Amino acid sequence: MTATVPDPVALGFAPTDPTFIAHPYPVFDALRAAGAVLHFEPRDLFLLTRFADVHAALRDRRLGRAYDHRYTAEEFGNPIPDDRWPRFDESERWSLLNLEPPDHTRIRRLITKVFTARAIAGLRSRVSDISSAQLDKCLGRDDFDLIADYAQPYSVTVICTLLGVPIEDGPRLLAWSHAIVKMYEFATPDRERTQADHAAGEFIDYVRALIGRRRESPRDDLISELVGVADAGDRLTEDEIICTVIVLLNAGHEATVNTVGNGMKAMLGHPDQWARVLAGEVEPLTAVEEMLRFDPPLQLFERWVLDDGVSFGGRTFRVGERIGMMFGSANRDPARFPAAGTFDVGRGDATHIGFGGGVHFCIGAPLARLELEVTVGQLRDRAPDLQVIEEPEYQPYFVIRGLTALQVSAH
Ligand code: HEM
Repeated sequence: MTATVPDPVALGFAPTDPTFIAHPYPVFDALRAAGAVLHFEPRDLFLLTRFADVHAALRDRRLGRAYDHRYTAEEFGNPIPDDRWPRFDESERWSLLNLEPPDHTRIRRLITKVFTARAIAGLRSRVSDISSAQLDKCLGRDDFDLIADYAQPYSVTVICTLLGVPIEDGPRLLAWSHAIVKMYEFATPDRERTQADHAAGEFIDYVRALIGRRRESPRDDLISELVGVADAGDRLTEDEIICTVIVLLNAGHEATVNTVGNGMKAMLGHPDQWARVLAGEVEPLTAVEEMLRFDPPLQLFERWVLDDGVSFGGRTFRVGERIGMMFGSANRDPARFPAAGTFDVGRGDATHIGFGGGVHFCIGAPLARLELEVTVGQLRDRAPDLQVIEEPEYQPYFVIRGLTALQVSAH
């Protein structure tokens, strides 16, 4: 049964319009009220707006991030695959994010052997030193950009340190990563796709050379461990390691940096809530969970329907249909979070949708939480008078949500 579903565009959903991007939450409220499932015609995408459905979809094995392990592109009614971006495709071929079982299970198991929560917890003092050194540079000045001057160099340095990538290459990685992630947006012009393809090519060559060096003389870093990891006779191939390193480097800072921006904008926009953190009433990690819920840095993830008969929000889906899980909307669902539109740093609910769920649950969540906890803790201790001094603006992208800058003064 395919019931008619409401049109989100008529309700103000305009994912390429900066005006909508500046204030999406009132529109999300309207979408949720209009229905659990809405059809976004321009991308033939069925949007899930409510927490319960997004939560269930993330865990439903009849949905997949990929379909090519089970169907051909023709069977899925897709045009001939676009082969104009071969190096981008190569960089994504073995990314965990694009795989489904059994490949996903095998590769994730091998990565998890080295990327353990224990390994991350052991990084605390290094993460803290990196943050502190970056803050030293910022706090000597009258004002600074919390994103470009602090969060970006901090987060890039952390992930480079962990993987064993030379820190001086951080700016190049940042440029490649910014170019590549444009591919995940709703409407990416060909010019930006070409740039993403070039960036992916350079990134692959760079990582391949680095892996070669670590193969010859291993060090105490994650790339060396990925090269050496084996499980029941199984190993990662060179191409799998390259894609893994690229996804860890990209995913490893983009969302974390944007959480610092979005979250601290919310925090400093609610001085009564910042006061609760300053007074020690609310621990930094508790505040971080609310920052992630209130204005998540990743707003939408897609899934293909791989089996007939899957139902969400009262609609039954057919094989080949595509679902968009709206994280930002789910995280503001009043059916799940009391006073969902209120920024309450002491809410203490870590079960928001920020890190996803199911087999693709964010592998970097422990690292992201650690980095963010350290950030909030150090800002509390060293910059209690932090204030926003210029009205921040969001970048004109919907899926990856972040500010262009967050100009602050600590005095
Ligand atoms: C606040 C920061 C972060 C947020 C909000 C975030 C969010 C997410 C989400 C929602 C997913 C699931 C996507 C899906 O279901 O389709 C995911 C997957 C992933 N994340 Fe994160 N992430 C963050 C930080 C990180 C960090 C620091 C790393 C690595 C160092 C990382 C690495 C990954 C990887 C490799 C996957 C793919 C896992 C898989 O498909 O099995 N993320 N992340």
